[in-house]
Amino acid sequence: MKATKKIVVIGTGYVGLPAALMWAKAGLSVVGVDINKNLVRAINERTLLLDEKELQALLEDPVVRANLSARQTPCEGDVFVIAVPTPVDPLKKVCDMGPVEAALASVLPHLRRGNLVILESTVPPMTCRRMVKTFIETRTKFKVPRDILVAHCPERILPGDIFQEIVHNDRLIGGMDARSARVAAEVYGCFVKGELHLTDDLSAELAKLMENTYRDVNIALANEFAQICEHLGADVRRVIGFANKHPRVKILSPGIGVGGHCIPVDPWFLKEVAPYNARLISTARMVNDEMPEHIAGKIRRAVSDVREPRIVALGATYKRNCEDMRESPALEIVEILRRDGYEVAHYDPLVAQLRGPSLVKAARGADLIAVLVCHDEIRAELDEKRAAIEKAMRHARIIFFEE
Ligand SMILES: NC(=O)c1ccc[n+]([C@@H]2O[C@H](COP(=O)([O-])OP(=O)(O)OC[C@H]3O[C@@H](n4cnc5c(N)ncnc54)[C@H](O)[C@@H]3O)[C@@H](O)[C@H]2O)c1
Repeated sequence: MKATKKIVVIGTGYVGLPAALMWAKAGLSVVGVDINKNLVRAINERTLLLDEKELQALLEDPVVRANLSARQTPCEGDVFVIAVPTPVDPLKKVCDMGPVEAALASVLPHLRRGNLVILESTVPPMTCRRMVKTFIETRTKFKVPRDILVAHCPERILPGDIFQEIVHNDRLIGGMDARSARVAAEVYGCFVKGELHLTDDLSAELAKLMENTYRDVNIALANEFAQICEHLGADVRRVIGFANKHPRVKILSPGIGVGGHCIPVDPWFLKEVAPYNARLISTARMVNDEMPEHIAGKIRRAVSDVREPRIVALGATYKRNCEDMRESPALEIVEILRRDGYEVAHYDPLVAQLRGPSLVKAARGADLIAVLVCHDEIRAELDEKRAAIEKAMRHARIIFFEE
């Protein structure tokens, strides 16, 4: 990449750090900026922070070592990439733009004509056109995109497989004009092997939100099917298996709810800009949000014949085989049951603070094992030691809420 020399990445978490590493590996000069001083220190000391096997190797790579540094405040650069959180306000269900505004404000003093600002954070539609443009134009002498190029290049990575995905996934490059898109495409072209799809900022914002909303709505449909089957006494997984024999049907598996900080969050950003149109989206959110209470109810019923039941809940992360507990429905289920006065021991072999004893030991005297998140490790232990586990229990009941 000829014109671009220095990339400043604001926010070096799950999204920002891997991208910073990839650009540094590609030979660009990269400054990672984060308000979290421990993170900044860790990057500069090359210590592992995320549980991604390739991360440590890249941090220690001599090319990356030479090209990447981290600090707490921005500096001058050619490209500013904003990858800060965009949480949803828990009551109003609208995007909290505070971190993006703070990140933009910190960049403004360092902006020079011709710079490119890339927003990687997931944002509500029209953010580039309304918020970013206005923010820059009212606080500097620059016009967007005449003087400062702006693009929205949303991230699609899957935690647990970040480095494979960041390189091989196709990528949307949403420029506020053709020049913004072209320069942003050059920036990502340094390491992305998937296809780069150049488009406008609004289309990129919408497409990113549609992706996660599509998943949320389809999960809600599977969860609703599960509740209908329960009501009629049918085995939902079996029935879905039959339905999926249709060549054009692919129903997802029902579960305990939706976690992580993307799928349960992003649909709200569509609702925020089009509340009267987003009817299906709102209902799906409601169905998925109610799942932890529904599952807690099933657990209560399963032990209703036992006095002072002892429950063992397995799995605490928001999805299988990862250590991320953000917005985890499993945590919510355990919290609901404990609030109701149930004795619940919660174990997860992938989470340091919940690792606990072997399953045979954990099962001692239990009346129910509720498998909330079925990591491969949990499945293997349950399969291998099933007889011993059941023998250790007071009542040998094991329910899989996730297959
Ligand atoms: N994690 C994912 O899998 C994923 C996937 C796609 C999109 N996204 C989106 O990417 C964005 C970032 O998500 P993440 O998972 O990397 O979040 P994260 O919490 O892991 O990292 C964000 C980082 O930004 C830092 N930060 C906050 N405000 C700052 C500021 N003003 N200046 C500098 N640093 C600041 C935080 O300290 C944190 O380290 C969000 O909008 C998210 O929705 C995430």
